Amino acid sequence: MNHHRVIIDTDPGQDDAVAILLALASPKQIDLLGVTAVAGNVPLELTQKNARIICELAGRNDVKVFSGCHEPIERKLVTAEHVHGKTGLDGTDLPYPQMPLQEIHAVDFIIHSLLNNPTKTITICALGPLTNIASAFKKDPRVVARVKNIILMGGAYFEVGNITPAAEFNIFVDPEAAKIVFESGVVLTVIPLDVTHKALTSVKRVEAFRALGTPVGKAVAEWTNFFERFDKEKYGSIGAPLHDPCVIAYLLEPSIFSGRYINVEIETKSALTRGMTVADWWGVTNRKANATFIGNLNDEKFFSLLTEKLATL
Ligand code: RIB
Ligand code: CA
Repeated sequence: MNHHRVIIDTDPGQDDAVAILLALASPKQIDLLGVTAVAGNVPLELTQKNARIICELAGRNDVKVFSGCHEPIERKLVTAEHVHGKTGLDGTDLPYPQMPLQEIHAVDFIIHSLLNNPTKTITICALGPLTNIASAFKKDPRVVARVKNIILMGGAYFEVGNITPAAEFNIFVDPEAAKIVFESGVVLTVIPLDVTHKALTSVKRVEAFRALGTPVGKAVAEWTNFFERFDKEKYGSIGAPLHDPCVIAYLLEPSIFSGRYINVEIETKSALTRGMTVADWWGVTNRKANATFIGNLNDEKFFSLLTEKLATL
């Protein structure tokens, strides 16, 4: 069984919450070193609080949660309350977290973790805008070469954008951070809308969460019911795309997914296409490949894995 030492960087968000729960439900495969909150779906004071709410829901008030960057590297923060609700975890009410927030800044935690662990032993799972990660790379460039790999939810090619016609939200919010990460040379796996829009909930799948009969099952069912209304209305889809849980599922069972190793560059100059992931899927340029860009998954296996793991919490 593959074993990973992981930092989850996140902007919870209901789908982030399900991803974090999936990681916490996989202790034999994932040694979670810390959860670093970043501003994204909702402002930082909510994402750092939500991260702690999620850990406590899983009975894991021992997890180290850090607060990171409250705004993108160069731009004003854009949030997504229209998708995730005012709290970022609308859909169910959970108690205010009792567990502490760690003292040091998330960026310093990422740097210290990478410097004080053997090189290339830490995987970063990025579920939100890449501000914290890019800020760590800028603050101490020594850490870049020490990252084992980054698996990130972000971008789109065939699916194009969800926040603008050209861009997916995580990349759109902080395109300069994304450019730093995509040009860093770190081993990158990109989980774009092209694949997450195939990881759709359904009535049956949501009822399977609820049928777990646990607080986790109930919360996940209620979050996905809340979260799906946006995508159903916009895309006419059958259910909510579980974007961020695909990152953790890829770590646990990469064989569920398929993609190509290609060049992906980030648009940062144009206002019209800000944050677009220009993915050379068809190899029409001679730009060097820099990312495994995932295009498909076996959704039945994905949801079975997710439901089986959540049942253990
Ligand atoms: O575009 C989807 C991504 O943006 C997901 O990570 C969601 O949580 C939001 O952060
Ligand atoms: Ca997210």
